[in-house]
Order: sequence, then C-alpha cells, then structure tokens
Amino acid sequence: VRDVIFHKIYIGADHAGFALKQCLIDFLEENKIIVEDCGAYDTTPSNYADLGHQVAFKIKNDPGSGGVLMCGTGIGISMAANRHQGIRAALCHNVYTTQCARAHNDANVLALGSRILDESMAKICLDIFLKTPFEGGRHTVRVNHIDGGI
Ligand code: RB5
Repeated sequence: VRDVIFHKIYIGADHAGFALKQCLIDFLEENKIIVEDCGAYDTTPSNYADLGHQVAFKIKNDPGSGGVLMCGTGIGISMAANRHQGIRAALCHNVYTTQCARAHNDANVLALGSRILDESMAKICLDIFLKTPFEGGRHTVRVNHIDGGI
C-alpha cells in the first residue's frame, strides 16, 4: 500500500458536482483521510468559480495539502483554481490522465466532471491522485515553468 501524498484534502463542487462530492467525501473518510468540505452544501445553483477559488485559497494556506474539485465538466472549476499561483489543477478523466497529472505535472488538485465520469471511475482516479508520487527529474524543470516560465 502506497502512502497518501497529501496530509489533508480540501474538496469543493458546484451544484452539478454536489452528489459526486458527497460520494468522494465518504470514500476519503472510509480511507481515514482528513477532508474538509468547502461546499457547495446542497444542489442550489452555485457558481463553480467561487468553489474553485475557495479550495485554491485553502490549499495555498496549508502547504502539503491537496484538493478535489467537481463541476459538470470539471472545466470551469479547474479554470478558476488554476488562476492561483502554485495551484496545479488537473482535469482528469481516466487512469492514464490521473497518473500523468501526478507523476509528470505534480498536480495538487484533481478536477473531475460529474457528468463525464461515473462514481466508480471517480473513486479510481481519486485513489491514484492520492498515491502516485511526482517523478521529479526532468519534470521538475517543466513544472517550474508553469508558474515562472513566462
Ligand atoms: C453547470 O451547469 C455547469 O456549467 C458547470 O457545472 C460546469 O460544467 C462548468 O464548467
């Protein structure tokens, strides 16, 4: 069993991602992983950007933590989170994209589309996200250019 990379997970979703968020909170708690629910707290229509920013702020203030974000597609909420320096939110759909997001991109946020993935695949992706180490080496140089390479 590989160790979990992050000491705590901040999780957020809009109304479209709410049900998947609840499912993944259960998964995290069953696996004894510390999780903080940043909302939304029901299916009242909400703005995915607000939830993306909220989780990004939390991670920035808690080094070594990670995040999980969901909206209908995972697109809008990852766009918002990626506006923050040091946040690398990866929109993943399957095993390969999730493995690469960690191993190559050192993603600290997993973004999922609740209308794209079923719950079973979402749990598989989350498990991979939590346990796959960053490979470092040549990837470190590339990742450093994301925040500072302009
Ligand atoms: C909400 O209908 C939907 O637009 C939102 O969840 C997300 O997919 C946006 O990127």
